[in-house]
Amino acid sequence: MGSGIAQVASQCGHEVVLCDTNAVQLEKAKSGLAKTLEKLVEKQKIGADESKQIQTRIQYSSSVNDFEKCDLIIEAIIENLEIKKTVFSQLESIVSEVCILATNTSSLSVASIASACKNPQRVIGIHFFNPAPLMPLVEIIPAVQTSEATVKTARDLVDSWKKVTVLTKDTPGFIVNRVARPFYGEALRIYEEGMADFATIDWAMTELGGFKMGPFTLMDYIGNDVNYAVTESVFASFYFDPRYKPSLTQKRHAEAGWYGRKTGRGYYDYSAGAVLPEPLKDESLGTEILNRILVMLINEAADAVFLQIASVKDVDMAMTKGVNYPKGLLTWANEIGLDNVLKQLDELYNEYHEDRYRASVLLRRLAKAGKGF
Ligand SMILES: NC(=O)c1ccc[n+]([C@@H]2O[C@H](COP(=O)([O-])OP(=O)(O)OC[C@H]3O[C@@H](n4cnc5c(N)ncnc54)[C@H](O)[C@@H]3O)[C@@H](O)[C@H]2O)c1
Repeated sequence: MGSGIAQVASQCGHEVVLCDTNAVQLEKAKSGLAKTLEKLVEKQKIGADESKQIQTRIQYSSSVNDFEKCDLIIEAIIENLEIKKTVFSQLESIVSEVCILATNTSSLSVASIASACKNPQRVIGIHFFNPAPLMPLVEIIPAVQTSEATVKTARDLVDSWKKVTVLTKDTPGFIVNRVARPFYGEALRIYEEGMADFATIDWAMTELGGFKMGPFTLMDYIGNDVNYAVTESVFASFYFDPRYKPSLTQKRHAEAGWYGRKTGRGYYDYSAGAVLPEPLKDESLGTEILNRILVMLINEAADAVFLQIASVKDVDMAMTKGVNYPKGLLTWANEIGLDNVLKQLDELYNEYHEDRYRASVLLRRLAKAGKGF
């Protein structure tokens, strides 16, 4: 992630210091960028001169002392709170008083990281999506300690990099990794109940729902180890709210080493010559699957707005620009009708008697008032 972010900043004309304590990783970042830029030159997206300038603007370093003159540092090291806190405290002793210290963490509390600094007002979350040069979304996450000035400077800067920024509260999963949970969780639940197999669920979501990838193809792409770890961490961080309960099916796949594409086996077999299973192209079953996952996603998006995690506009923007959803979930809800979404959720709740299916209060209030988002 760090090298992708360095590429973005350098392409926008900044002098960049890319620091990694591991020399092998530094070399990999340097040669990786050279290859990426070579391809961009071949495709005539940038000129040879520009490619050279982008590369010379990046200084590769193995010492944090080289950050001395920086105005902004975006940390993208290992996802470990104690290590990040140590690094932030160390950085503060090197940089100027006005330097903004940002973290690209996907799951840790920004407040906790900021607490390691003498001046926590200068600390903020700037969360990119992978690959950073291609994905337009960046979540801007002020901690409770962050000053308004830090938020404004950081957001204005990232906006000037032609990224789409959304503002989110410092809560588990921020917007995208919170709202997207049912895309995986409800798909796994549908499979566990024997309602459909992986291929049929993926077919329903792509063919009938318009999603670029079905949930099982996507989990195999992300890696079941990584996706399971995020689910478990979000579940624990929300004090074990049943809505975020992880799935044993995914846990077993991770335990088996069936991570997905990277290990050649996940929900699907990616070994040479393997044939992907055919979905059951039953429209009525497919619609049932799509609707069940979709109303759960909408419910999560509604609750994020209800709990002031982000605005309606930013929640919709985050899901379309961060994970390529075909439509903003709340716009989708308006189209389907909020009373219709609520009816489907209440039917699930009445049937299962599980808190997992409880409808967001905001959804219920708006539906009752005949309003949309
Ligand atoms: N991979 C993703 O899709 C993704 C997406 C968004 C955010 N993130 C976040 O970005 C961060 C990095 O993730 P990643 O996937 O790039 O990890 P990674 O393990 O690929 O890279 C981390 C790099 O940090 C270096 N490092 C470790 N400790 C260091 C230190 N003290 N000083 C300097 N360098 C150090 C390591 O050598 C390594 O090269 C994490 O906080 C992660 O949550 C990752």
